[in-house]
Amino acid sequence: MSIRTNYEKWYEGDDYYWGVEPGSFLDDLIRLCPPSEDKKVLDIGCGEGKDAVYMAQKGYSVTAFDLTENGIRKTVKLAEDRGVKVTAYVDDINTFTNDGQYDIIYSTGTVQYLFDENKKEFFEKLEKMTKPGGIVFINVFVEKSFLELPPDWDIEEKMWKSGELFTYFADWKVEKIDEVIFEDDSGGVPHYHCMDTIICRKM
Ligand SMILES: C[S@@+](CC[C@H](N)C(=O)[O-])C[C@H]1O[C@@H](n2cnc3c(N)ncnc32)[C@H](O)[C@@H]1O
Repeated sequence: MSIRTNYEKWYEGDDYYWGVEPGSFLDDLIRLCPPSEDKKVLDIGCGEGKDAVYMAQKGYSVTAFDLTENGIRKTVKLAEDRGVKVTAYVDDINTFTNDGQYDIIYSTGTVQYLFDENKKEFFEKLEKMTKPGGIVFINVFVEKSFLELPPDWDIEEKMWKSGELFTYFADWKVEKIDEVIFEDDSGGVPHYHCMDTIICRKM
């Protein structure tokens, strides 16, 4: 089954598959680039919008995209329910174009869907779209020989090499860099993930 089919199905109902509580990393981004109406944020792979809507509530001007129509429909609805606006649309991390200039670009749990042949161009796009002084946050699942593939790992997802993500930001000011192993029970079976995270500033 393709990722589009899986996530479309998971996002179909009224419940929020990933919940509506924002990711804990957002507080770091807010501290590093405090909100104002003229500060623009891009969420790549926004899912059902919990983080994008939180950032809009904090006062940023937020744009977000995801591969799924149900994810975008629910992002727009969550924003409406909370009385804020998020510009949300369907797009593919592999092929998207965007002429905007952003103060914060972030992508959580999504970069594993980037095909190998699109990685270089993706990071070039990020560099172009980030304002000088702006912040990028990315996390990605990485492989470890001592960890098994998660039971709900999809054929379209690609594990990255440990440290690989960081090599794309050699010329940026690193604000935070991290690799952690954590337990998860998505799919109903407890398992472990290893995740690399970078927060960096374009100088
Ligand atoms: C693990 S979820 C994370 C969602 C969201 N960032 C969050 O934290 O709630 C991964 C997301 O990537 C999206 N996705 C998968 N392939 C994609 C692609 N090629 N382009 C854009 N989004 C994609 C899925 O639809 C899904 O919403």
